[in-house]
Formats: sequence, structure tokens, C-alpha cells
Amino acid sequence: MQSPFQELQLFITGPTYVRPEVRQAGLWPEFGHRDAENRKRFEPVMKNLMALAQAPEDYQVIIFNGSGTTAMDASIRSLVADGETVLNVSVGAFGDLYHKLAVVNGKKAVQLKFDPGSCIDTSRLKQALDEHRPAVVTLTHNETSTGVTNDIQEACELIRKSGALALVDGISIFGGAPSRISQTRCAMYSTSTQKSLGLPAGFGIAFVSPDAVAKAEKVESRGLISDILSQLPRAGKYQTLTTPNCTLANQMYMQLEYIVSHEGVEKRFARHLEMRDMVHGFVDGLEGYELFAPRENRSPTLTTVRVPEGISAARLKEIKETMRDRGYLFDPGYGKLNDALEKDGIRPVFRIGHMGDITVDMLQNYLKSLREVLPA
Ligand SMILES: Cc1ncc(COP(=O)(O)O)c(C=O)c1O
Repeated sequence: MQSPFQELQLFITGPTYVRPEVRQAGLWPEFGHRDAENRKRFEPVMKNLMALAQAPEDYQVIIFNGSGTTAMDASIRSLVADGETVLNVSVGAFGDLYHKLAVVNGKKAVQLKFDPGSCIDTSRLKQALDEHRPAVVTLTHNETSTGVTNDIQEACELIRKSGALALVDGISIFGGAPSRISQTRCAMYSTSTQKSLGLPAGFGIAFVSPDAVAKAEKVESRGLISDILSQLPRAGKYQTLTTPNCTLANQMYMQLEYIVSHEGVEKRFARHLEMRDMVHGFVDGLEGYELFAPRENRSPTLTTVRVPEGISAARLKEIKETMRDRGYLFDPGYGKLNDALEKDGIRPVFRIGHMGDITVDMLQNYLKSLREVLPA
């Protein structure tokens, strides 16, 4: 059967474009997840993930069935003990998600919130650490709703000095920029397949430190799939705890071999910076449009653009349909953020995802088309 669906190039912030070779690898043979065939896929996958993360040797990688949120949920359930405080630092919707996970899991959670479009202010972080004395702190490496990348190195240093464990959400940046795990030595760094790795969704990925393992031993009611101590013995055998998506495992094998041994990790990161700079140049050339994130904290994987006076969020949704007719999926911005901005009389923002396997040429063509469609 031919695909009944429209072929669209995705310039949203995840899921992202999957290149034809990776789609093809989805046709490779299925396998038994407790059979020797499993290790042929997952041993190289896990080793390549460690290489891409540039993670220290004493970290272990876990592959969860689910998505990025599954790994974040596991970090809360495994590493925050009942009665102790978790501080959720938020610069947007995904920082709020970490807080929600703490609250719904019954943890004693306090939130340190920054205005959308801001990055973490470390002096306020220090104050919050002094005031709340948290045992655990959650951070967002790259806030997808606002296009802000936080300096997690500085933040994690403060957190470590305070004696707390840092949990980092690296979902929309991992694979497109350094994870900084070696420098931050965060307790757990969570990510997923469908963003800068250029794969379909289906696995959450986590890098866990020896400190995290020691801490989990003292936490009760960690669940089963959300328990890093249940996951790690399987991960140590290059397995998943529950039955994995074999199609995605084959694609992941292929894609990580490509990233680490063919494209090269440094080249991949450099390509993301080149694409980010291209988009900045594009926005600078548009009358009345402005980059939303602060200069020093602009994401290498997505860019947020504030529109000129007179263009509403509803108009951005119309632009999305015009771009669809041109074969592209345009991102009209994070819905809740634009609702809040418009309520306060502030101009909305749209997003351009430039992550994963999007090439400089693809991006150039997209920007050319977008320029023809965006109202002057
Ligand atoms: C920064 C960030 N955190 C968490 C999530 C949730 O990830 P998932 O949809 O893989 O569960 C997303 C998804 O967009 C994200 O961008």
C-alpha cells in the first residue's frame, strides 16, 4: 500500500525530520529482546549514546520504553524521598512539567519560576537553595517553549555546593549540542529519541551517576519501570526492562553509528550552530521581527521569533496552513505561551526547529519559502 499521508518536512521542535536511510532501517528484522540478537543492537546503541553524551565512564545509560517524560518521571520517583524538598527551577512550560511530575508523585515540591524568555538567574537560584535547602533540584537544559538554553554548568555547580542532587531535562538539545554531563556531574540527565537524534519517538534515555544509584537505594516506593534500580541490571546487559520497539531499536542502531562514526559528534554540533546562526541572520533581515531569547542563551536547536505588531497567534496558525500547502510543517509557537503573551497585550512568538538531521540546504529552502509567506 502506498502511504495515504502527505509528505511534510517538519520544522517543528519535535518530532523532527527522519531521513530516508533511517526510515529504511525501520524495515530491518525484528528480534527477541532476551536473545543474542538484542545485544547486537543495544550494545553499540548504548556505547554510542555514552560517546555522544561525552559522559564520564562511571555513568550508566538506561533506555526506557516511553518518551522523555518517562525518564523525567523516573528521576523524580527514584531520587526524591518522601518528606524531603525538591526545587523545580522553571524558565517555561517544560520546567513546569518537571514541577508537575514532582507534585503528582506526591513529593514536597517548590518552584523557582522565571519569566518566559529568561534564563536561570543564578543569584536567585542561590537564594532559593539557601531558603528551601532542597535535597534535589530539577533544571531544563533547553526550554523548548521559549528557545532558551540555560547555563547548566554554573547552576549545577551551585547545586552541588549546596549538597543537593541535580536532575537535568536535556530532551530538546541532546544530540545537537554537548550534554555537559562531565562538567555538571548531574545525578540524572534525561532525553528522548524524537528531537536532535533525528529518530521517531519511543524511548526515553537517561544517564545516571553513581550518586543517583546510591540515593535511589534510600528512596521508597520507586515503582517498577520508574525505578532506576530495577532498570539498571537490565541496562547492564544492554537490555530494556520491558519489551522494546524493535523497529526503533534498529533505526537507533543505524542512526547512532552514523552520528558517532560517520558524521562525527563535533561536526554534528557545529552543524547545529551553523543552522542557528543562519536562522538568526534570517530574522535580523526581517523588518519588525525579533529574536525572543536573550543573546547569550539562544538555543542551538530551535529559535523563537517575536512577530511585529498586528500579527496574532491566530494569524500564525493560518501561516502554518499556507506552509503545509508548500510541503512544510511550520511551528506557530507554544500554544499556552502565546495565549499568555496575548492576554498581557504582548506580541506572540513562532518557532523554527533546526535540529537533528535537517541540513543547511533544507533549512535554506525552508527559510526562503517562509520569507515569501510571512507578512511584512
Ligand atoms: C524540554 C522538554 N522536556 C520534556 C518534553 C517531553 O518529552 P516527551 O514528549 O518525549 O515525553 C519535551 C517535549 O517537547 C521537551 O521539549
